[in-house]
Amino acid sequence: MIRIAPSILSCDFARLGEEVAAVKAAGADYLHVDVMDGHFVPNISLGVPVVKSLRKATDMFLDVHLMISEPLRYIKAFADAGSDLICFHLESDSDPYKTIGAIRTAGKKVGVAVSPQTPVELLAPFIPLVDLALVMTVQPGFGGQSFMDGMMSKLDWLVERARKENPALLLEVDGGINPQTASIALNHGANVLVAGSAVFGKEDYAEEIRAIREAR
Ligand code: DX5
Ligand code: ZN
Repeated sequence: MIRIAPSILSCDFARLGEEVAAVKAAGADYLHVDVMDGHFVPNISLGVPVVKSLRKATDMFLDVHLMISEPLRYIKAFADAGSDLICFHLESDSDPYKTIGAIRTAGKKVGVAVSPQTPVELLAPFIPLVDLALVMTVQPGFGGQSFMDGMMSKLDWLVERARKENPALLLEVDGGINPQTASIALNHGANVLVAGSAVFGKEDYAEEIRAIREAR
């Protein structure tokens, strides 16, 4: 099953509730929420109060992508705000085991992300412990960048590893996804596709989501 996760980073924030309702009506599966702190990445986006408001506004699955330093400090706040899945970066400065434990204790699904420069093999110890692995296909920080197809070998490695150790592991790609690049990622085993500018940049969200879902 393929899940499409529009990233609200590219939406019109003045009309956030309407934008979320629109992508839901357009057939999106998850809502991808990019949290940036201006420290782990050179951009600032949104934080806990926005997740809280989103939780009130929609029953969509909230896939919260933390691009922040010291994620462990903020797990409880993002969990209490209503996240369904919390994904942190392996490159961040919190202990990954403790961070995974805190997300589990809060009763949420766990994701772990790797930035382009990070070898995917560093995820090995965490494969059995998490629900989702996120392969960044752009440098984290900004929407609208070009897809790095050099990251596809990371998916190949994850597919093989997950087959043995965690067959239910979700494999998410984030960055530069459109119907053309979705086809590449799907052929390498991705099953959660984040798309920001491709969806919100179009007039017809439903048409774009369908095109990404059906890309092969
Ligand atoms: C980048 C974010 C992405 C971003 C994707 O740091 O993690 O989720 O919104 O945007 P597009 O799809 O435009 O590359
Ligand atoms: Zn993201």
